[in-house]
Amino acid sequence: MSGWVVRAAWGRVAGLGLVAGLGLVACSDPSPGGTASSGDDGSGSPASSGGEPGTTGEAGTTTADPDSSSGAPMDGYPPEVLEVLDLPWPPDEYDPPLPAHFLTPAVQALDNTPPGNPITDAGATLGRVLFYERALSRNETIACATCHPQATGFADPAELSEGFDGGLTGRNSMGLVNARFYATGRFFWDERAATLEDQVLQPIQNEVEMGMTLDEVVARLEARAYYPFLFEQAFGDPGIDADRISRALAQFVRSITSYRAPYDEGLAAVGGDPLVDFPTFTEQENLGKQVFFGVGNCASCHLGQQGDPLPPGTPPPNAAIFMLVAPANNGIDVSLVGEDNGVGDQVGDPALNGLFKSPSLRNVDLTAPYMHDGRFETLAHVIQHYDNGVLPHPNLDARLEDESGQPQRLNMQTVDKQALQVFLSTLTDAAMIEDPRFSDPFRG
Ligand code: HEC
Ligand code: HEC
Repeated sequence: MSGWVVRAAWGRVAGLGLVAGLGLVACSDPSPGGTASSGDDGSGSPASSGGEPGTTGEAGTTTADPDSSSGAPMDGYPPEVLEVLDLPWPPDEYDPPLPAHFLTPAVQALDNTPPGNPITDAGATLGRVLFYERALSRNETIACATCHPQATGFADPAELSEGFDGGLTGRNSMGLVNARFYATGRFFWDERAATLEDQVLQPIQNEVEMGMTLDEVVARLEARAYYPFLFEQAFGDPGIDADRISRALAQFVRSITSYRAPYDEGLAAVGGDPLVDFPTFTEQENLGKQVFFGVGNCASCHLGQQGDPLPPGTPPPNAAIFMLVAPANNGIDVSLVGEDNGVGDQVGDPALNGLFKSPSLRNVDLTAPYMHDGRFETLAHVIQHYDNGVLPHPNLDARLEDESGQPQRLNMQTVDKQALQVFLSTLTDAAMIEDPRFSDPFRG
């Protein structure tokens, strides 16, 4: 996928400690677009409407600009940028080498980066600025980050989020971590966006969320002195259009990767097999990990990989992402037709009613409340649900049913439930939460 090269073999890191910093290869082609034929989305090309799924970012529909990350020499930000923005020079690295458990073929296969929009440092830097840009909302009160704050895993601590005019969103805001590793590339709880490039333009135009048209946003950004330089760095010329806004925001969101949690450290210490006890874990954390992969059966969904299920005891080839590969029904409701039918409403097929995508469980300790409507306030509530609260929805996923097709009743011991919760906190990635690359670049 788009310049990803798997050069790190599992064996190379077996038995070693932390792998980040071992000099594993950078994950992206050093000059994205450099070999693409006449990449050009200069001001003459039509801007994406953003309203139609798949108009941007799909394979072959856009190409990276040749100058996007290599080429023209740069010697620092001009004063009109530095007056407003606190940005490092040279730009931060947004596609750094990832540890070995992200470089397995199974995980690489999940990457939804389109060939036409690889992460570049200048593109993601522009995306970072846009993510914190309040001018994207009608009354300039809110930015993407308002509903997706870094401190809480880019999820809103409120059950429903408040839009620019005080209106509430229909669902709980989603954590954005590791969004890059979702193979279908579809976004939102009901997967109504076909690509991330398509998704990122939707909140801007949503009447409750930001309430703008794309033309208005382009005009506003053109009027701000700091943007032409940032667009030029990212795309080769200072032209601003909706397609470039979409590509920069998508690059930034894809760059938000969590790979430095205690879980990652433990996994590296055992050479990548999550079923083995981690020497860096407490006894309770190791017990919780056993529950997650064992009786709790959480891994069968939340560490999804494509293809056939593996025989029990086989180390999962994806031990990194903590996301489903497709929406599912997890039995939080009982009736076939409810207030919010998720994918079923979206696709117009009741056989898919009650199926929802789930965000990654990475940083889940920080992303409360939980589920598409934010109904569970704590992880203890979530665990209680899976332990003995799963409801017999007609579309309940088979992985949550017992042998006779009834909703599972795990009836776990309290020690196991507590351990599972403690294990989930080992997915909290302080380095990501505090990473300046993802923080608000606006001064004062
Ligand atoms: C007013 C609050 C609000 C604002 C502003 C907002 N979002 Fe969201 N975001 C949400 C909610 C709520 C959802 C889930 C909506 C749904 O699925 O129906 C969501 C979902 C998403 C998703 C889908 C994640 C996934 O895994 O499928 C992405 C990506 C995202 N937002 C990025 C952004 C970006 C980029 C911006 C700024 C352009 C933004 N959001 C602005 C509230 C907001
Ligand atoms: C059948 C697949 C499946 C299994 C098995 C499963 N889940 Fe889930 N999980 C889901 C789906 C689907 C959602 C999103 C449902 C919704 O919001 O409507 C979800 C949501 C969650 C959430 C909320 C995420 C968020 O950001 O709001 C947590 C936490 C969670 N699951 C933990 C677990 C744990 C712990 C286990 C094991 C005890 C588990 N899950 C087992 C499918 C599954």
